[in-house]
Amino acid sequence: MICLGIESTAHTFGIGIATDKGKILANVLKPVITKKGGIIPNEAADHHVEVCDEAISEALETAKVKMKDVDLISFAQGPGIGHTLRVGAMTAKTLSLLHKIPLIGVNHCIGHLEIGKLLTDAKDPVLLYVSGANTQVIAFEEGKYRIFGETLDIGIGNMLDVFGREIGFGFPAGPKIMEMAAKGKRYVEIPYVIKGMDVSFGGILTNVTEKHRTGKHSKTDLCYSLQETVFAMLVEAAERAMAHTGKKELLLGGGVASNLRLQEMCRIMCKERGAKLFVPERQFLVDNGAMIAVLGLLEYNNGKRTRVEDSAIKPYWRTDEV
Ligand code: FE2
Repeated sequence: MICLGIESTAHTFGIGIATDKGKILANVLKPVITKKGGIIPNEAADHHVEVCDEAISEALETAKVKMKDVDLISFAQGPGIGHTLRVGAMTAKTLSLLHKIPLIGVNHCIGHLEIGKLLTDAKDPVLLYVSGANTQVIAFEEGKYRIFGETLDIGIGNMLDVFGREIGFGFPAGPKIMEMAAKGKRYVEIPYVIKGMDVSFGGILTNVTEKHRTGKHSKTDLCYSLQETVFAMLVEAAERAMAHTGKKELLLGGGVASNLRLQEMCRIMCKERGAKLFVPERQFLVDNGAMIAVLGLLEYNNGKRTRVEDSAIKPYWRTDEV
């Protein structure tokens, strides 16, 4: 059985093709990248409309399949930016009706968890999901996907991007902040905001922005201090979730998880508590269509169906409502 998955929750329009035997046949990513400024929802949606045809053709060609070979169309129904989600949902509905292929809408966050499990040896992990809009510690526990900890305001990637813009970077700023942080020498005290397994980044962003505007600290020291502080918060939340659930595996997901310093800190924590860390390759860490195809197949083969009339986007769809 072959599934074509469509990702469009934010900056990336992605088409993935996967089989129910767990093979990824194609994973085409078309992200929005800027030299200056962040993502503007309607402009990102225009970008997705523009690259849509190309992405589908490229994916079919790479997978060496034709539309008539596709048995299921899966799309990220939420959570995400309304403007961009609509492009993916419309594409999915059109393909489904035109080619008479069943449709399934899936939750983007759970896509990160399930593709991580498929591509690594992780069996029952705690997922630390860190991206632009999302920061969640997720695990499957007692028959349900549960959020053990999450951001109470903005996502970690969003915070890094806004600070990145403050110091002159375009989108995404995370990789450039990582480079700057590696050159930082002096730790500048930044608030450490965690309560139980929940974290918050709004106050930290204000604090570090104000520190930058005083002109007293170098950009490299600020990037270094910011990363050390917020990553320590994430590692603490993840470790607490692992202790609480008794799980011995940590899986990373989301674009921010490609940060090498975050990976290193997670590796140290896992080693210290005798747990295992799993990090999928970058194209499957960031938002991608393959994870939507993989989750679509998993849910379809467990009986889930989405009728066209139930396929409206769900921008605020929570992981624990699935
Ligand atoms: Fe994501």
